[in-house]
Amino acid sequence: MPNEKTLLLVAHTPSPNLKALADAVLKGARHPDIDSVNVRVIAPLNTEPEDVLSADAIILLTPENLGYMSGAMKDFFDRIYYRCLEEKRGLPCAIIIRAGQDGTGTKRALKTILTGLKWRIVQEPLTCRGEFQNEFITQCEELGMTLAASLDAGII
Ligand SMILES: Cc1cc2nc3c(=O)[nH]c(=O)nc-3n(C[C@H](O)[C@H](O)[C@H](O)COP(=O)(O)O)c2cc1C
Repeated sequence: MPNEKTLLLVAHTPSPNLKALADAVLKGARHPDIDSVNVRVIAPLNTEPEDVLSADAIILLTPENLGYMSGAMKDFFDRIYYRCLEEKRGLPCAIIIRAGQDGTGTKRALKTILTGLKWRIVQEPLTCRGEFQNEFITQCEELGMTLAASLDAGII
């Protein structure tokens, strides 16, 4: 499709709950009414700068570990930072954090890195905190659908 845009989900999913959140994002983003958005999902350790360079929007999903984003997500940023710095300024992005009890350190750290990259956070960061709830699935699905629909409509 000539005008197809790409939405990239970079998701670190070491647990079944995190995998369920990633699946929910994909389900929302691949809503049948959204027809000109190609949705890709890649684990952060497998994401290369070229994947980011070819993306029109990005969703980041990470657990909070020891008050910070997962090591895998940090490695992703370390490897793509300079290759993507110039070309991807303004890239629309969204953040999902799965946290056992907090999530604030991860949100702060991601915002700092995204400020450095000059990516645009287009949704209020979503923190799925505490004991796992089905509501998290709904929230992730909605976030995925909103990003994809906004990309499709050309409003982000
Ligand atoms: C090594 C380790 C460190 C963790 N550190 C934090 C933390 O600093 N803050 C927090 O809210 N949750 C923390 N957690 C909980 C994880 O965020 C949570 O287990 C993860 O998001 C997976 O969620 P799930 O158990 O629902 O699959 C930690 C978990 C592990 C294994």
